[in-house]
Amino acid sequence: MDAFIGFLQNTQPVVLLSMAVGLLIAGVFVVVFHGRRHLRSNEPPAVPGLPLIGNLLQLKEKKPHQTFAKWAEKYGPIYSIKTGASKLIVLNSTQVAKEAMVAKFSSISTRKLSKALTILTCDKKMVATSDYDDFHKLVKRCIITNLLGAGAQKQLRGHRDVMVSNMIENLETTIKENPSGAVNFRDLFKDELFRLALKEALGQDIESIYVPELGKELTKKDLYNVLVVDPMTGAIEVDWRDFFPYLRWVPNSKWEEKIQRMASNKYVVMKALINEHKRRIQHGEGTNSYLKHLLSLETLTEEHLISLVWEVIIEASDTTAVITEWAMYQLAKNPDRQDRLYDEIKEVCGTEKVTEEHLPQLHYLNCVFHETLRRHSPVPIVPLRFVHEDTQLGGFDIPAEAEIAINLYACNMNKEEWAEPDEWRPERFLEGTHEFSDLYKTMAFGAGKRACAGSIQAMLITCISIARFVQGYGWRLVEGDEDKVDTVQLTAQRLQPLCVYVKPRK
Ligand code: HEM
Ligand SMILES: *[C@@H]1O[C@H](CO)[C@@H](O)[C@H](O)[C@H]1NC(C)=O
Repeated sequence: MDAFIGFLQNTQPVVLLSMAVGLLIAGVFVVVFHGRRHLRSNEPPAVPGLPLIGNLLQLKEKKPHQTFAKWAEKYGPIYSIKTGASKLIVLNSTQVAKEAMVAKFSSISTRKLSKALTILTCDKKMVATSDYDDFHKLVKRCIITNLLGAGAQKQLRGHRDVMVSNMIENLETTIKENPSGAVNFRDLFKDELFRLALKEALGQDIESIYVPELGKELTKKDLYNVLVVDPMTGAIEVDWRDFFPYLRWVPNSKWEEKIQRMASNKYVVMKALINEHKRRIQHGEGTNSYLKHLLSLETLTEEHLISLVWEVIIEASDTTAVITEWAMYQLAKNPDRQDRLYDEIKEVCGTEKVTEEHLPQLHYLNCVFHETLRRHSPVPIVPLRFVHEDTQLGGFDIPAEAEIAINLYACNMNKEEWAEPDEWRPERFLEGTHEFSDLYKTMAFGAGKRACAGSIQAMLITCISIARFVQGYGWRLVEGDEDKVDTVQLTAQRLQPLCVYVKPRK
């Protein structure tokens, strides 16, 4: 669950209509309650919008990161917009973005969630959505020590090795069945990644589970839908009342039913999985699992356990697949760069299969990873941060209660910072003016104390997969796929699943 910007991504006319109706009904109250905050002189420039609804209608197209970048041309690297009653400060440059995430962290460390996210996360009961408080510190330490930190990732190496060898085996079978056909890369990768996520969270892969509350047995595919696909869709469902706190009393029951259903399905499925796993733990099995470690904290409620274990499943299953798919797309599209990577692998590994031990020597591979994060950032806008006390950014006054949207997409497409930013060119990180630390200039994982906890896992899985794929096979795009760089969904997934021709190298 890595991008909570969904509340801006709404085009449904029916929602706009109910919004209008709501506003009409509330007209009188609005006048009373909508006391104008008196404007301070040194706030960032504001993009003009309509009374009450602010800039909402201007955000109708589904790609707010692009609209935001366009506004920056006129209003500069830091400006404000209004989404209904809330003020959103948009940051368009690496410098102010770093200032917000690192230097001013103490004033901007929490998050305000949309209604949908509040329901789906059992009211912030996960690492990524919690406020920066004792709970956050406790569970972040737990997730880093037992699952996502460098030491823990070493322990979990076996899961990644199995994932890679399964993918290669499945690829072999697919090629054998249809040597001249294209391979659906997304299916190949995502199934095995989900398997790995289940093992990390619950200590074992699960083929099916009986869920008493639903009165049926769910297959692995059902699990994937209930735990990953539906909540990702739900996360960007808009309750227009989010924008108008003074209209909270207007019912929106159809919307609410839909989200509650998603949340409760997820809840009962997680409950069944957790109960099943607790039984195994009693038999001494599956002890190296995130759940086991959470249970040992002893202070967490059922809601906490369910949300925290689910968090790992959804976070592990999505962004890593998105970034690997983009990398393979670019390598298939750019045969020269694919050859360069293949040559590097031959030079470092000779006739051995690439393993994680080789990764530190595979510099070009590392550049491929970071350049893909730059050009196709899976999280184009950092999950909104909430300003809980007055502060300053880029020399402007930022009032408490505002929210901050960091537009990573814009930071990474800026001509001043990156030559020919549209080009996917891993070599840029090897050239003279760039240093090793520049790899992190993309801020793809955020920055500061709330930076992504899973970056090591994402790097290991993505890099070892790419390396094995390129070592064993030549990759070529299907005709007509060269310019398909459109994105969709919360995490900037490729619009169409990548289908590629794959040819064994020998
Ligand atoms: C390429 C893959 C990934 C990208 C681009 C990514 C990106 C991000 C970003 C931008 C944030 C927000 C940081 C902020 O607010 O400053 C974040 C937070 C987080 N991510 Fe990731 N992520 C990735 C993979 C993962 C994986 C594989 C996991 C775990 C299995 C994970 C777990 C988390 C957690 C727990 C947080 C919350 C950290 C906190 O609030 O303290 N991420 N991620
Ligand atoms: C905002 O981002 C866009 C896209 O990277 C860039 O072209 C533009 O120069 C930036 N504007 C400012 C004022 O930073």
